[in-house]
Amino acid sequence: MALCQWSESMSVGESRLDADHKAIIRLINQLHDNLEAGADSATLGEVFDSLINYTRFHFKREEKVMQACRYPDAKAHEEEHAGFTRHIEEIRDRYARNADSALIRGLLDYLKDWLSHHILTQDMAYKPYVEHNWWAREVSRVFGPGLAEEAPADPARNASIPCPEIKPPLRN
Ligand SMILES: [Fe+2]
Ligand SMILES: [Fe+2]
Repeated sequence: MALCQWSESMSVGESRLDADHKAIIRLINQLHDNLEAGADSATLGEVFDSLINYTRFHFKREEKVMQACRYPDAKAHEEEHAGFTRHIEEIRDRYARNADSALIRGLLDYLKDWLSHHILTQDMAYKPYVEHNWWAREVSRVFGPGLAEEAPADPARNASIPCPEIKPPLRN
């Protein structure tokens, strides 16, 4: 059974950001299913790495979109992303040193709570700035295809490509 599920109440008003959230949830479920099926540490480590890479990719896209929409709390939101990234990278390092499945179990509990809370509160807070906003759509599209889209995705590569400078018009 899936550990996490995306629902319409989680929609942040921009289709690519929603697609990223769905992809992250899929990866969390994949990690959970592999753990339940007794997969070896190499397989679990691989899914864990994909999850970290895709999360980094998504955070970057989301941050570019928030900046383009002049979302006033973007800085605090970025710090929240950075704290989360540091935390899961630390767990990844610990797992690399000692492949204890209890670490993955603890990680999954943390991910499940953190993600739904983050999407429903922090991400949802930018929705009024992002929804129906041409700049949000454009910056999100230019950032690159994600896992949910048809074009072949390489999140690690895409995350390192700087988003072209697109200047939104000044609001009165
Ligand atoms: Fe976020
Ligand atoms: Fe997000």
